[in-house]
Amino acid sequence: MIKVFGKTFLLSTDNSSYLFRILPTGQAEHLHYGSKITIDKEEDALILTEKHVFEPGNAIVYDRDHKEYSLEDMRLEMSGYGKGDIREPFVEITHADGNRSCDFVYDSYEIRKNKHALTGLPSSYADTEMEELKVVFKEKDYGLKLELYYAAFEKENVITRSSRLINESEETVKVERLMSAQIAFDTSGYTLTTFNGAWAREMHRNDVKLSAGRYVNASATGTSSSRSNPFVMLSRPGCREVSGYCYGMNLIYSGNHYEAFEVGAYGKLRAVTGINPAFFDWELAPGASFDSPEAVLTYSNMGYGLLSRQMSDFVNDHIVRGKWRRKERPVLLNSWEASYFDINENKLLRLARAGKEVGIELFVMDDGWFGERNDDSSSLGDWEVNAKKLPHGLKGICDSVNALGMDFGIWVEPEMVSENSELYRAHPDWAMAVPGRYQSEGRNQKILDLTRTEVQDYIIEAMTKVFSSANISYVKWDMNRIFSDVYSSALPADRQGEVAHRYVLGLYRCMKTLTERFPEILFEGCAAGGNRFDLGILCYFPQIWASDDTDAVCRSEIQNGYSYGYPQSVYTAHVSAVPNHQTLRITPLQTRFSVASFAVLGYECNLCDMKKDDLEQIKAQITLYKSLRKTFQYGTLYRAGLSSDMADAAMEGMYYASNGVSAYGSAGYNSISWTVVSPDKKCAIGMMMQKLVQPNVQFSVYYPCGLDKETRYHFYNRALKINVREFGDLVNTIAPIHIRQDSGLHYLLSKFVKLDGETEDLEGYGNTLMEGVHLHPAYGGTGFSDQVRHYSDFGSRMYFMEAIEHEKSN
Ligand code: DGJ
Repeated sequence: MIKVFGKTFLLSTDNSSYLFRILPTGQAEHLHYGSKITIDKEEDALILTEKHVFEPGNAIVYDRDHKEYSLEDMRLEMSGYGKGDIREPFVEITHADGNRSCDFVYDSYEIRKNKHALTGLPSSYADTEMEELKVVFKEKDYGLKLELYYAAFEKENVITRSSRLINESEETVKVERLMSAQIAFDTSGYTLTTFNGAWAREMHRNDVKLSAGRYVNASATGTSSSRSNPFVMLSRPGCREVSGYCYGMNLIYSGNHYEAFEVGAYGKLRAVTGINPAFFDWELAPGASFDSPEAVLTYSNMGYGLLSRQMSDFVNDHIVRGKWRRKERPVLLNSWEASYFDINENKLLRLARAGKEVGIELFVMDDGWFGERNDDSSSLGDWEVNAKKLPHGLKGICDSVNALGMDFGIWVEPEMVSENSELYRAHPDWAMAVPGRYQSEGRNQKILDLTRTEVQDYIIEAMTKVFSSANISYVKWDMNRIFSDVYSSALPADRQGEVAHRYVLGLYRCMKTLTERFPEILFEGCAAGGNRFDLGILCYFPQIWASDDTDAVCRSEIQNGYSYGYPQSVYTAHVSAVPNHQTLRITPLQTRFSVASFAVLGYECNLCDMKKDDLEQIKAQITLYKSLRKTFQYGTLYRAGLSSDMADAAMEGMYYASNGVSAYGSAGYNSISWTVVSPDKKCAIGMMMQKLVQPNVQFSVYYPCGLDKETRYHFYNRALKINVREFGDLVNTIAPIHIRQDSGLHYLLSKFVKLDGETEDLEGYGNTLMEGVHLHPAYGGTGFSDQVRHYSDFGSRMYFMEAIEHEKSN
């Protein structure tokens, strides 16, 4: 809801408020973003306004008539350099006369019935009418107009912001930066949480205290990047998973982004988010306008958990769109880790048949099917099928997979070109390169210059041809290198600062056209895993490959990182072989499934070579996942027991999983737990995983979350069979004859003798279960039996909670 009292603007959601007013000097003063407040009239806002009375020492005063206002010590809603505010600005412009200062002051406002469309950029949407506040500022002397846009998503407690700069002057100006949102806080001392990493280790949570100076979370890769995701959180001291005050910020943008946090000389904190100004400038001709991407803000007074759930709901209902919104995603089998580039029709069909046997719904042919693509050194750009590998073409293999009763999907990397390709030989100038200079490469490939319309058209038509050549149900759109030598020969020398952003606009045009042309196809974004995991991609593609790291232990932390800002319906996860291809770690098949099922589940391993036992397990896993898929993919997710929460949680003795005895302190974590709960709370699934066993720690507690307090549930675990070989030569403590470890006899025994794992089978009310389910003891160096949890290194368990109908406590 949006209300205006004179020159004071209030945006309200169910549980939050956002308030600002126009100062006597014409700038906008940010008054409040946080818990819900009530304002009946303009004067009510005086409680939250700073009382400026006299001129401060050694600071610039705004003007002679307002000596009490020094912009350096104000909570500004939008700011520029040049009039005394020396902190991170919102807008920076070089005017035609070379002047770089600006002074935008209030002009007018408008409440619109619907959100406006951003030029060339995706944005959030609503199914029903959605009010939007537009506040207009004008540069005092230069004929520039700046519009700030605000919308309030009530149920999700989200405020969105974006900005538009319009050149109404006669002269061309250079936009040096235009941020999307700026928020001001009265004090320092907030904790900034960012999610950082690299290839194969995305989304690692990093907390830093903001007490003085500037901290920047940004990307320079040309993508939103695995190095620093654009999603960040700010929290007040003491914020935890289930309590405390915090804010989430994200940007609907897939290129170089920038989140800067500055504690100024007077202890106030300013936060800005937008396009990274470090690699950007934009020529704005008379009459032209420039849009910043949309920023997404949320506030929670119940810790990070609620923040994440708000962001997740927002992504599911206001970012992801089209046929796949809220739709259950198929369980797929991907050929990459099974065969890498070494694919052909026979091999693929053998794999597909094995997939069909275990219940796979979608078979995906990954890289290697086109041109002369036998390794990563060639053929990107040549989107013609390799007839030696696929003699019956795409249609042939697709029809055969369809005939097996599965959908067929394909891998493409449309934004790239290999030097060794027909496309490059025909259009060397289409690759991004600085003329006359050697261009550095990543994965032997060059980036196509998507700033050029003819290159976008080529991609659109080449992909249209591929996607319509067979009954293709799924497309994995990959992008495997980061930017270097950023330059477009289609733009003049003084406009090279536009290349990175124009690339993103070009990409969005390709994605928009193709997703509109092929609305049935399920698109999955990928950039060497999570190098472009952001809300911009999710506006077109409903899911993204979260990481090339398929190791369950690494994945648990990566997926946990994503879960702070994104719902599990948008990150995909695969069960793969062991030793794992990225870490060489061996984890139990159950654990690989436990972790991957709390996302969009897939398999990526050579099922043809797998043992019968494993295939039976996989079949059972897929059956289980399908029966609970809606809850796994769209249920409300609760986190517990990870990283920095671990130490606090261990002290409080609640909301953490497994044993509180941790050898890892707050720097790492030894156990992790998630619970997903269906919207009607009738069904919940829990998962607990540990990294390393600690001997002689028998007792563990699983804390479910989000259950209905008064509903009675059946609580049970996924019964496991334990391979006798896991006990090594301890088998001799029970065997009547001596069995040599790893001997034929040991193998034979393991084939026929399976030990029963512990059974958890309880009934109780949600309010009791949530106090902690005390599990059967873990093997502690002594005492194995069928009542004991065999909880190995990287062991995991799944728990189920089903509402028992018609029984409620009084
Ligand atoms: C990187 C992706 O993340 C992988 O899953 C795989 O598709 C390869 N590219 C193929 O080249």
